[in-house]
Amino acid sequence: MLSSNITRDPGGALRFAGQSVPELARLYGTPLYLMDEDRIRFNCRLYLDAFRSAFGDAALPLYAGKACAFKQMYRIMAEEGMGVDAVSRGEIYTALKAGFPAERIWFHGDGKTDEDICYALDSGVGFFVVDGFEELEALNREAGARGVRQKILLRVTPGIDPHTYEAVNTGRVDVKFGVPIGTGQAYDFVRAALACSHIELCGLHCHVGSMVFDESVFEDTADVMFAFMRELKDGLGYVTGTLDLGGGYGTRYTEADKQADIPGRIAFLAAHMRALAAKTGLPMPFILMEPGRSIVADAGLTVYTVSAVKRIEGFKSHVIVDGGMTDNPRYCLYRAHYTVLHAEREAGETAVFDLAGRCCESGDILQPAVTLPADIKRGDLVAVCTTGAYNYSMASNYNRLGRPPVVMLRGGERFVAVRREGLDELCALDE
Ligand code: LLP
Repeated sequence: MLSSNITRDPGGALRFAGQSVPELARLYGTPLYLMDEDRIRFNCRLYLDAFRSAFGDAALPLYAGKACAFKQMYRIMAEEGMGVDAVSRGEIYTALKAGFPAERIWFHGDGKTDEDICYALDSGVGFFVVDGFEELEALNREAGARGVRQKILLRVTPGIDPHTYEAVNTGRVDVKFGVPIGTGQAYDFVRAALACSHIELCGLHCHVGSMVFDESVFEDTADVMFAFMRELKDGLGYVTGTLDLGGGYGTRYTEADKQADIPGRIAFLAAHMRALAAKTGLPMPFILMEPGRSIVADAGLTVYTVSAVKRIEGFKSHVIVDGGMTDNPRYCLYRAHYTVLHAEREAGETAVFDLAGRCCESGDILQPAVTLPADIKRGDLVAVCTTGAYNYSMASNYNRLGRPPVVMLRGGERFVAVRREGLDELCALDE
């Protein structure tokens, strides 16, 4: 199986995190997001332990909430001792509502409004990751109005191509995020931040992309960042105290995907950075990284009920389910690959189908060319694996469909973390 939390019982029924998927579907209905809380905690510990052994106490992994955010997720992060990367008032609010400590929140985003800035300042978030000059000015003004000195990191763009797909490629010079090093603008950005009396510049942030498997991406990024840090020391006398290398380690969606050895990669990266520090004569900064996908992706599985099977002799056949691009837009957006399984039995004789959603457009495909039992029929259950990242968080109400619930599985127990969005909720804001 793709991941150790996916198994089948002797009768062929799928089990996820040790629990029967058909039984969970009967209990909670479909479409249904299942989340394996034990796996989320395991993945957090993978990072925490790897950080501790690679960097000692001078490092912290931040969970990138954009991958999947609801209150229970932040409770887990608080308990595990992770920091959090938040990108909106909504994410900050959710974290605080869950009791997550404000000082362990790093507030990201390239389009922060004055309202966002004021809200985050008043909430006492630990750090702003400032994306550009206008934000720097607005933050300095608002922090001054409150008589505080806000800690920040500056987001800079190192000009590294992470060799991943376009939508998540964020390190190149001409992306919309951060301020480029290569053009000299980042140097001016640092100088401007140092001149702000209500801002304490704690360090630098960069993020080059998501679904990174390429072995040298983080090391190449560190090369650029250390060279820049040396330039800052020489030119401005500024010593970078913190270096945040962003998120991005990839996850296995299909058997063909590689498995990223995260502890191994982190140990290698740490050794590389220590060598860089020695070479550039700089102290080793406090290290942050912001994994999202690699914390939650393999902790998720989505269950659907088949509504229809359309077999068209000599053409493509479709299995249509009771969810779709509304609960998982990733194939539509990125042509993302997924593993699809029949949730009640192992396939004997198989056939190839496109797994389609219920939305009124022909592009609503969850996954093309999946192999399922040839006799699959209405009422059968189908599971899409590895849906923990960027599924619930990117879900929409297109076609006025309600979002599925999120059921957490923990130590053989189960509970609803997010309720199903019903018809009343869909009309809740309508006047
Ligand atoms: N830090 C920053 C500044 C980011 O922009 C991101 C992701 C992360 C951390 C977390 O990266 P991760 O470890 O999850 O790769 N919706 C797309 C992914 C967008 C990623 C955006 N930024 C998808 O479904 O593939």
